[in-house]
Amino acid sequence: MSTSTANNTQAPHKAGAAIADKTVRHHQQLKLTIFAATGGVGRQLLEQAVAAGHDVTAVARNPGKLTRHVPTVTADLATTNPAALEPAVAGADAVLSGLGPHSNAAAGIAAPGTRSIVAAMQATGVKRIVVVSAAPVGTVTSSANPHPPKHDPGDGFLTRYLLSRIAQTAFGKVYDDLAAMEAILRDSRLDWTAIRPPRLTDKPLSGSYRTALGQNLRGGLFVPRADVAHLMLKVLEQPHTIGHTIGIAT
Ligand SMILES: NC(=O)c1ccc[n+]([C@@H]2O[C@H](COP(=O)([O-])OP(=O)(O)OC[C@H]3O[C@@H](n4cnc5c(N)ncnc54)[C@H](OP(=O)(O)O)[C@@H]3O)[C@@H](O)[C@H]2O)c1
Repeated sequence: MSTSTANNTQAPHKAGAAIADKTVRHHQQLKLTIFAATGGVGRQLLEQAVAAGHDVTAVARNPGKLTRHVPTVTADLATTNPAALEPAVAGADAVLSGLGPHSNAAAGIAAPGTRSIVAAMQATGVKRIVVVSAAPVGTVTSSANPHPPKHDPGDGFLTRYLLSRIAQTAFGKVYDDLAAMEAILRDSRLDWTAIRPPRLTDKPLSGSYRTALGQNLRGGLFVPRADVAHLMLKVLEQPHTIGHTIGIAT
């Protein structure tokens, strides 16, 4: 297992062993396109990316909800033609997406919406994309994962035998949607990374959290949306995360 703090998603560290790093500093200003910049994670992405000095374009279906004045493209991803997204992504160093369903009733947007984003990126030659998935998705059947393991290797006893069953009952359609989204990325030939958080909270950015490449974190039941956004920006300077899922938890 590879667990670490926010500062490195590769080398093993004890959780919280490093000093919290609350601003993701890149060596250069990046041109970023943030989809669903009005959502819980999306708002955090927008705030942190602007604060870090990046050149940000936001994509939202309800631009009036945006918390920062940045160049904006209005698009409902349930209906938008991918070609209409091309101007939003053209020339971007990376695309970040907070798109996803908040309930079973809203499920069915992450996969088709991400398919449109992927098509626009392929058409414009943009390669890097980072999205939000969910911790239980590694055990969900999809076209990319027809025989998933019964348990995520990172999950402990409580999550394996109790919490994951409760979560599946409550959010099964959400996880199916997110698993289909991950399958689209795996087939895309893009440089993708999917972050798989457990229960999201609105606690402030800590900048100190555990991560694991390709699996969940033992005892990791919660993580702030702000820390998920922090990691999404952080992995832009971590090429070894390309083509991988990353577990994250406080
Ligand atoms: N809640 C949890 O504890 C939890 C745990 C693990 C994973 N996740 C997953 O993490 C992801 C992000 O969570 P969150 O709390 O940030 O979700 P959220 O606040 O519900 O944000 C979802 C975003 O997607 C946008 N969106 C939805 N349908 C759209 C459409 N048709 N066209 C364009 N944009 C659309 C929303 O736009 P509007 O602002 O206009 O609604 C919003 O910006 C979701 O996929 C969720 O399933 C959640």
